[in-house]
Amino acid sequence: MRVVLLGAPGAGKGTQCKRIVERYGLLHLSSGDILRQQRAAGTELGKKAQSYMDSGALVPDEVIVGMMVDAISKASADGFVLDGFPRTVNQADELDKSLALNGEKIDIVINLNVDEQIVVERITGRRSCPECGAVYHIKNMKPKVEGKCDKDGAELIQRPDDTAEVIANRIENYHLQTAPVVGYYKNNNTVYDIDANKDADEVLALIFDSLDALVKA
Ligand code: AP5
Repeated sequence: MRVVLLGAPGAGKGTQCKRIVERYGLLHLSSGDILRQQRAAGTELGKKAQSYMDSGALVPDEVIVGMMVDAISKASADGFVLDGFPRTVNQADELDKSLALNGEKIDIVINLNVDEQIVVERITGRRSCPECGAVYHIKNMKPKVEGKCDKDGAELIQRPDDTAEVIANRIENYHLQTAPVVGYYKNNNTVYDIDANKDADEVLALIFDSLDALVKA
């Protein structure tokens, strides 16, 4: 199963992907997480991405496409779920071309629709674990002990690009560059539009319905 999860910044892509992979045994490939790992490791790719990420701009396609095609090539036959990629129509086109070389294609696209005000609340309240990547929210998904990761007890942090000014840029770039990717897929693939304003468990149930329909087909 090759799945793409689309949605604005803070829509809940990462949160839902972690649950999807538990049920279907897919590889979770988050372009944002891979870029943050590259930055933490001080690689050339991480250094190239730094200024774009810090300002809320998209990292250039030529950097992203190679990185993600390489990551996808390491997925097992069970498949993968892409989170944060593709984010431009050009990235989607390059991904399709790369998969087609092996006779493969994206099987299903899930588009998480969230109102802008909710997106801002979700991003500003997000806290993450620098050790294991677990994601929490100060109101919606609180850790058991305030400020500490449930899994490893590490001090939770706020992402540096989760400030008001950078969030505004990320949302603007989403509308300009990423929203057209939904249209691209609607012309070529099965796209499920999901109301992701709901509680995380309700959103997950809708995602499972879509994926189960694909598994049974
Ligand atoms: P990336 O890390 O991909 O950031 P993003 O798309 O802005 O998405 P987020 O990680 O902010 O949100 P999410 O949808 O995963 O939400 P989450 O589940 O955490 O990218 C960062 C940067 O890297 C980009 O700005 C760009 O520079 C670069 N980049 C990455 N990919 C790129 C690409 N392909 N091309 C070019 N550049 C790229 O949830 C958010 C919060 O809400 C959490 O606190 C969570 O607990 C809470 N929450 C989630 N769901 C719910 C719910 N249903 N109800 C209540 N709370 C909820």
